[in-house]
Amino acid sequence: MNIVVVGKGGREHALAKKLKESPLVTDLWVCPGNPGMKEGGLTCAPVESPEAIEKFCLEKNVSLVVIGPEAFILSDLKERLEEKGIYCFAPSPKAAELESSKLFCKGVLKAAQVPTAKCAVAYSAEVALRSVREHDFAEPLVVKADGLAAGKGVWVCDSLAKAEEAVRVLGTQFGFPLLLEECLLGQELSAFALCDGEDFVVLGTACDYKRITPDPFSANTGGMGAYSPCEFMNPEDEAALHSIFSKTLRYLNSQNIPYQGFLFAGLMKTAKGLYVLEYNVRMGDPETQALMPRLKTDLAKLIVAAVTHELKNQRCELSSEKAVHVVAVSQGYPQTPMLLGSPISYPALSTLKNQIYFAGVSEKQNHLINTGGRVLGVTAVAPTRHEARALAYQDLKKISFEGMYYREDIAE
Ligand code: AMP
Ligand code: GLY
Repeated sequence: MNIVVVGKGGREHALAKKLKESPLVTDLWVCPGNPGMKEGGLTCAPVESPEAIEKFCLEKNVSLVVIGPEAFILSDLKERLEEKGIYCFAPSPKAAELESSKLFCKGVLKAAQVPTAKCAVAYSAEVALRSVREHDFAEPLVVKADGLAAGKGVWVCDSLAKAEEAVRVLGTQFGFPLLLEECLLGQELSAFALCDGEDFVVLGTACDYKRITPDPFSANTGGMGAYSPCEFMNPEDEAALHSIFSKTLRYLNSQNIPYQGFLFAGLMKTAKGLYVLEYNVRMGDPETQALMPRLKTDLAKLIVAAVTHELKNQRCELSSEKAVHVVAVSQGYPQTPMLLGSPISYPALSTLKNQIYFAGVSEKQNHLINTGGRVLGVTAVAPTRHEARALAYQDLKKISFEGMYYREDIAE
């Protein structure tokens, strides 16, 4: 079987590498991929638009396409491919509203009776301001924009002044409605399922580090590192997680919106158990880079079972080892990445014990250079999190480029 993975980041590097291990896969291309992936033995094809990807798949006799980034999930790529008889593992644009509309997501969670924060919806600044003034701020209030906001659409407000400012700023930037949510206190984690429209397997859990520095009020990023599994889940939480995915998929199905694809639950473990903060309709980046190396089950086999609606009775086995992934970014990230275009020095990949996943890189005179915010990351796997962490940092220290920055406290 020939496969295409769509995307060019570290997440797609990890997915493609895992898929390539499968005996079911003959040829695999990452479209468009990046030159770092090529160094790592993958084949990339410089095709980026849905039209070009469709044409490429027809030329190369590709029978399965796995989409990484959300932008392609929201495009017409799946529809185009399926019209041509090519399987595409991704949710439909309607099901993808789980991520692109927090209001839609909240509606699904409530109707499916999945635990989630209480929430009021305000369709105007006047109503929003009236609501925030009724809140007593013994607990913070969370103000959220409805649509996609590149990580800038959620304010956790511990005072009336901040909540009023959030209403003004978010209302101006992203428009109404705004959601006013109860603030959940606890530990955050990411959990992933692979779904076929009706059935699912849980792929596993991870914890990511969203802030640029250890300061919890520093800038929000795409993710500076992750470890897997998340270590504070007990058997009761595992059962609750299963029930969360199961109820969500059953409800969506009952509404004629079968969900096929990766499903990413952003969760809070509170004193009262697991609550869903949000759903994303894709794998997490960088959680995927921590999770994939632990996956023992053939990923291609699972995805083929999903696109043919045969996931029932499939199982997903993970190594009991722990994985730690640390991301290196360009100076100035996330606001204004700078010193771009400088050569990346790294040891021969074959001499490294751990895996480098490349993201914001390109090639100049046969040399990898940094061209993006998140440039690359190293994943190490070991019997304990602390060993994995030490190994990941050991290899990261052998890599350098001008302005390289990484957090020193991932998985501490
Ligand atoms: P979201 O885009 O909804 O996941 O929100 C982004 C981040 O805001 C989450 O990862 C949480 O850290 C925080 N957050 C969102 N909703 C809540 C909530 N109801 N209570 C506490 N923190 C929240
Ligand atoms: N790491 C969080 C995300 O992928 O959205």
